[in-house]
Order: sequence, then C-alpha cells, then structure tokens
Amino acid sequence: MNDLSALPADFAWGVATAAYQIEGAVAEDGRAPSIWDTFSHTPGKVAGNDTGDVACDHYHRVPEDIALIKEVGAGAYRFSLAWPRIVPGGDGPVNKAGLDFYDRLVDGLLDAGITPFATLYHWDLPQALQDRGGWTVRETAEHFAAYASVVVERLGDRVKDWATLNEPLCSAWIGHLEGTMAPGLTDLTAAVRASYHLHLGHGLAVQAIRAASPDARVGIVNNLSPVEAATDREADRAAAVRGDGHTNRWWLDPILGRGYPQDMVDLYGVELPVQPGDMDIIAAPLDWLGVNYYFRQVVTADATGPVPHAKQVYLPGSRHTHMDWEVHAEGLEQLLLRLTEEYGVQRIYVTENGSAYQDVVLADGSVHDPERTRYLEEHLAACARAVRKGAPLAGYFAWSLLDNFEWAYGYDKRFGLVHVDYATQRRTVKSSGRRYAELIREATAGHSGRTA
Ligand code: IFM
Repeated sequence: MNDLSALPADFAWGVATAAYQIEGAVAEDGRAPSIWDTFSHTPGKVAGNDTGDVACDHYHRVPEDIALIKEVGAGAYRFSLAWPRIVPGGDGPVNKAGLDFYDRLVDGLLDAGITPFATLYHWDLPQALQDRGGWTVRETAEHFAAYASVVVERLGDRVKDWATLNEPLCSAWIGHLEGTMAPGLTDLTAAVRASYHLHLGHGLAVQAIRAASPDARVGIVNNLSPVEAATDREADRAAAVRGDGHTNRWWLDPILGRGYPQDMVDLYGVELPVQPGDMDIIAAPLDWLGVNYYFRQVVTADATGPVPHAKQVYLPGSRHTHMDWEVHAEGLEQLLLRLTEEYGVQRIYVTENGSAYQDVVLADGSVHDPERTRYLEEHLAACARAVRKGAPLAGYFAWSLLDNFEWAYGYDKRFGLVHVDYATQRRTVKSSGRRYAELIREATAGHSGRTA
C-alpha cells in the first residue's frame, strides 16, 4: 500500500499554502485591499462572515512556520505572493516593504534547506484593478506581467521555480460565473473574458519571468478532475464531455498549444477577445505543469442548469471529506497518466492535494486525524502507480501546511497537517503531519539504501 519506491530520488516532497489564507496583516506595511478583502467583508459572502484579516498570522510567525515545514518532513514549500502587498495599486509604485517580507521568507527557507516554489497569483487581485474591470479587461493581464517582473527581479537569484497562476478556473468560473468567490459575479460573458485574460496574463508573465531570470523554471497550476458519466446513457456521456471541457480542456488546451476547444467555444457562445499573436503568447513553452487534485466528478445531463449543463452526483458507497468532496485516489493516477499520454507533458508536480476533516483536539493537546492520514497515503500511492506507468512526476505538495482561511467556507474547513487554534495561534502537528514526515523519511531512505 505504501510502496513509494517508484518516486524518483530527487522527488520534491512539499507542503503548500497561499498568501491570503495564512498571512493576515492585511493593512500592514503598505498592503492595499484585494478583491478577497472586499468580498470577505461583504456580509453573507463567507461562512460565519470570516475574513483573512488575521488568518494564521503567518506574516508575524515566519520562523515558527518554517520550523513546522521541517517538522512535517518537507523539503519544498509552495507559497504565493500577495500582489497587493507588492504593487498595492495593481500597477504603478512598488511597495518595498512588501517585497522585503518575501525576501525574508525566501532567505529563511533556504537557510533551513527548504526549496521555495513561488506562485505569483493565488486569487488576491488588487481591488484597485477590479475597480477598473479586473480580469475582464486586457490591461489586467499586462499589469500582471509587470508585477511578475518586479517580483522575479528581486527574488529570481534565489527562487528558481515559479508558477504564474493558481487555479485560474476558480478565478474565472467560480469568481465570475458561479459568484461564490471574489469578485462574486454571475455573468458568463465576464467569466469567459476573465478566463482569456488570465491565460494571456499567464503567457505574458512567462515572458517576464524568463526575461528577469533566464534560469527560472516556469509553470502554471491548474485544478483538474476526471469527469465521468454517471450512467451509460448518451445524454450523460455527452454531459461528461462538456464537463471535461469546462473543467479540464479549457484550461489545458490553450496553454499547451492546442487553442481553445471548439465545442466549448460554441457552448459558451462568447467571442474571445483574441488579438494577433495572443495564442502564441498563451502557449509559451513551460518547464512544468502543476496539478491540484481533490476529487473526481461524476455527472448527469442537466439541460436546464448552468453551463456546462452537467450536474455532479454521488455514487452510492462513496467516501467524502468535510467539503463533501469524494475521496477517489484513482482519479489522481488517471489525471497524471492523461497529462503524460494525451498531452505529452514532460514534467508534472502535484502542487496541491489534501482533505478537510473535522479535527478534534484531545485532552492531552494532540490531534489525531486518521481519515486525513489515509487520504494522504492513498494519494501518494496513486502518484507512485502513475510514475511506475511512466508519468514524469517530480514532486508532491500536501495541501496544506496549516489549517487556514478556506475562502467562502471560512475557518470551519480544516485542511492542515498542522492544527491552528485561531484564538491563540497555537500550532499543533497532527498525526497526519507526523505520518507525512515518516513516509518521506522511508521513501528517501529507500533511495540512499539503493545507491549505497
Ligand atoms: O484552499 C484551496 C486552495 O486555495 C486552492 N486549491 C484548493 C484548496 C482547498 O479548497
């Protein structure tokens, strides 16, 4: 079950977080509001009206949190930088204090022997840019590339692995179509335009990163799910194809040089604002592709529902996390093999994978989370199977280092390998965090044994 021996010797064993979910300090040292500050401060948008104002107070606890990365055994740390800390107005003046924070974080990681993987955008668009149209306008893509230059010029001597965007699907589909994430719109035209400008911003940022740091290794992080028909009915099979287009192909095809899938262009019926040369920019060659995997989708046709007219259903007997997401590790193996065989991706990272459960702090202060441990073990085993079958998987980042602000769900959903008591900011490594360290030790020892 835990035979991870197929994972390569230089496998990146990591943990991941994102700025707005952990940093807090939203009004310190020149940071300006992002769309998530606005959204979370709008009553009724986030469960419990929680906000990221304090979150895990990571901004003031970097040394302690780096020690926790070590304690859970990770040798790599994926974090995101807050655009509104660095270029508070979205474009224009750079806030040196914002850059200084990440400079200290990177130095701290390197001193601790941890490899930084930096993501430039994990959903916290400066509100000033949203006020000018946000991702629905082309200028935002250009400002994103300018911000990328500023960051990489400062940190590119020490950070080599860069992701442009995290899960642009969520920014576009959930933020502009479903409306349950910032900026909270429910408008298909806005959503499709946002998806396009996110892709353009990604491509322009790839150019900017390479110009600032020629030895950078650049990727993008997509959240993907295998989409399966709930029955063999023709209508359900067609729904699965649409669901796959909406969740996977729309986000992979253009960046991998295949253009936008025509069936989805037709389904959305929204003209893409393509200008000459854009599609080549969007398809800029990448060094790696990041996959965030949480669940598969099983769908039935839903003619009257929103695009893609595919409704998710639960198969009897399936296991679910506290997010109500199905636990299905085989889906991760399937995705890794699809990226390898169908898309020909040469280097893949699982940049997020994890589970929320209702953890209980025991009387002795410990947190025992067997379900999360099982989830972790099953998904790592799926990674190893995919590698055995030829997937070029170079690393795995557990989501998340810490319990944190889970967007519209607030603080109720806990994904951490480390428990956070939000009243005291006390951190406690859960049993899953200890198990992760043990698995990493075993896998790494297997390699030194083999080469000795
Ligand atoms: O917490 C999020 C993260 O910000 C993006 N990927 C999914 C995680 C769990 O929902």
